[in-house]
Amino acid sequence: MGTVTVRDATPADLPAVAAIYTHYVLRTTTTFNTEVRTPREWTQRFDAEVTNGRYHLLVAMLDGTVAGYVESQRFRPRPAYDRSVELSVYVAPDATGAGLGGALFGALLPRLEAEEGFHRAFSIIALPNDASIAFHERWGFVHRGTLTEAGFKFGRYLDVAYYERAL
Ligand SMILES: CC(C)(COP(=O)(O)OP(=O)(O)OC[C@H]1O[C@@H](n2cnc3c(N)ncnc32)[C@H](O)[C@@H]1OP(=O)(O)O)[C@@H](O)C(=O)NCCC(=O)NCCS
Repeated sequence: MGTVTVRDATPADLPAVAAIYTHYVLRTTTTFNTEVRTPREWTQRFDAEVTNGRYHLLVAMLDGTVAGYVESQRFRPRPAYDRSVELSVYVAPDATGAGLGGALFGALLPRLEAEEGFHRAFSIIALPNDASIAFHERWGFVHRGTLTEAGFKFGRYLDVAYYERAL
């Protein structure tokens, strides 16, 4: 096992973050995105949501290389959702099970709890994803329901499970 550290992302981390996410977009149903985000889209998103917004992007380093990240983002657009955040966590496929996801949630969740204004965190998990379900339950998330066949990717319909954690 290598050394795992977590820190706030900087714009210089975005290519490494994008490389991790691109794998899951192109090769898995973990995310319902079907098209990769361009470097410009990553930069615009980071500037709007993190630098000038109230959301977070943390990276996990494994032996000095970015190998995972977690994003907090707006849950839904309407103003009454202001106190809710949605989390997205992705670890590079060759680095899962090494504690990076745990290190990311361990850094982010206390910050969300300490910051004023956030009341609920949600993760929406495309099924099947036993690792993500076990991971979220390990971090205190509770299953609140599953929407059936809400997504369609790679020629099949996909269910999504809604997980919730009080902050
Ligand atoms: C889900 C994910 C973020 C977990 O991160 P990780 O770095 O692999 O997980 P960790 O090594 O930090 O494990 C933390 C805990 O999660 C649970 N867990 C993680 N992977 C698991 C697996 N494959 N099976 C069962 N439990 C698992 C365990 O409870 C583990 O605690 P333990 O080590 O004390 O047993 C990671 O596997 C991943 O990125 N998967 C692919 C992308 C994805 O599905 N993202 C989530 C989208 S909703």
